[in-house]
Amino acid sequence: MVSQAFEEISPADFFYRNREIAGFTNPSRAIFAAIRELVENSLDASESAEVPPDVFVSLTLNEEGRPELETYKLRVEDNGSGITSRHIPSAFGQVLFGSKYKLKQARGTFGLGGTMAVLYGQITTHKPAYIVSSTGSTKVYIYRIMIDIQKNKPIILERRVLINKEEWRGTIIEFFLEGDYFRAMPKILEYLKQTALVNPYANITFVDPKGRLYRFTRVTTKMPLPPKETLPHPYGVDVETVKRLIRVTPNRNMTDFMKTHFHRVSEKIALKFLEFAAIPRGRNPKKMGPQEIVQLVRMIKSFEEFRPPSANCLSPLGKDLLKAGILKELKPEYTVVCQRKPSTYAGHPFIVETAIAYGGEIPKKGEFILYRFANRIPLLYDEASDVSFRAIKNMNWRRYKVSQDMPLAILVHICSTKIPYKTVGKEFIADRPEVKKEVLNGIREAARLLQRFLSKREHVEKEKHRLSVFSKYLPKIARFSTELAGRESQPDINKLLESVNTSEGTAKR
Ligand SMILES: Nc1ncnc2c1ncn2[C@@H]1O[C@H](COP(=O)(O)OP(=O)(O)O)[C@@H](O)[C@H]1O
Ligand SMILES: [Mg+2]
Repeated sequence: MVSQAFEEISPADFFYRNREIAGFTNPSRAIFAAIRELVENSLDASESAEVPPDVFVSLTLNEEGRPELETYKLRVEDNGSGITSRHIPSAFGQVLFGSKYKLKQARGTFGLGGTMAVLYGQITTHKPAYIVSSTGSTKVYIYRIMIDIQKNKPIILERRVLINKEEWRGTIIEFFLEGDYFRAMPKILEYLKQTALVNPYANITFVDPKGRLYRFTRVTTKMPLPPKETLPHPYGVDVETVKRLIRVTPNRNMTDFMKTHFHRVSEKIALKFLEFAAIPRGRNPKKMGPQEIVQLVRMIKSFEEFRPPSANCLSPLGKDLLKAGILKELKPEYTVVCQRKPSTYAGHPFIVETAIAYGGEIPKKGEFILYRFANRIPLLYDEASDVSFRAIKNMNWRRYKVSQDMPLAILVHICSTKIPYKTVGKEFIADRPEVKKEVLNGIREAARLLQRFLSKREHVEKEKHRLSVFSKYLPKIARFSTELAGRESQPDINKLLESVNTSEGTAKR
């Protein structure tokens, strides 16, 4: 008999062994991912405190690095919500620990990103992370921590408390990591620019290892309405969720149970559903057996009259802010923006926003430039696998009189309580049919608006040309005909010019 040794590993250990699935593939990707995760945490934190974000990022070269690989000190500071003292060590020292498991739109998903950055720093430099945070109370907390990767627990090396004289609120995180900034630089700068585009109410400052300062300044202090936490939608639940709800419910009958725990289920709909599912209204959910629960979920999925989820758990950017961001960062000649109505896939609500920017500083690339965003973060890798890329490829652009050699940038922003990412590294969005349809319709809508603009402009150009022909030749014709007729004074051509001008006005209307 062969004896096998079994062992169990912690979540931190799992991500330590498989760090590429969280985006920490190589020194260049790692430094990009670390900056990105921390900036996203800062933006989430400022938005949850409902203040326009001020984010400072600095990356400095640390001399002690291995000769073949540089090590850097990364520092990110924000004016966000801050973290309560007792949660600071776990927020950055425990994988899968976070405050964003709620059902509402956020950039972070499952307590991984920031912690992964710290973990990567630790395994490449063996140095602790330094965190300063205050929720705006009378105290500021300072921690130095490391991660016990095998136990998935923070190790607190130092804890200090200072008096918060200036009523400062926010978080500073500082740690060392190995990386290749110069290879990652184009992507990092592109990331910051696109982040500034899709968060036009944020100030983002970056000082790079050469001491160069990049500043992205807000153009507005108006922020999108914050998302509200929501209940699970019936079409989005499975047996496990229903079992958990039954465990915690105070309700003793199915009507109340359906009303209390599911999104947009009114008394009327609850009763209709129970009748449809042949479940007695007064049935006590706590007494349901496993088979009954499975059947309940099956019936929920096949009942067609649950109302679509409301979108107040989402926080789209809105047309004005999207336009402001595009004008600020891309400086086009013209831009059109659209927002689709809320839709759902598998019970998860989502909204698609699209835009097309034209001319100005948009370069002619010989192909469309695509900017992809999800929950107000830019997606920069794996473009060809993304749903928006495929949608653009499949469109018949000739219908819109648009061609690849025009200076065009297409923007697609998807926001949802659950973005259908294909990887935990949040790089590209899967082809869910419902999502694909909305993306396609959104781009079509923008293309139609652009087409209208282009044909209007074409018309104006033609008219301008026509007028210039008139104004060039009419004086000559007037002169010749006066001479031919042997008259002294020339006729007044201004009236004639005016009348062609008016006809332009009529045509325009
Ligand atoms: N800059 C910050 N300000 C406030 N809270 C933060 C900040 N960074 C991280 N956190 C807290 O730490 C938790 C873990 O962060 P992270 O590992 O990036 O996971 P996620 O963002 O997916 O939740 C977050 O859920 C949040 O509660
Ligand atoms: Mg995060």
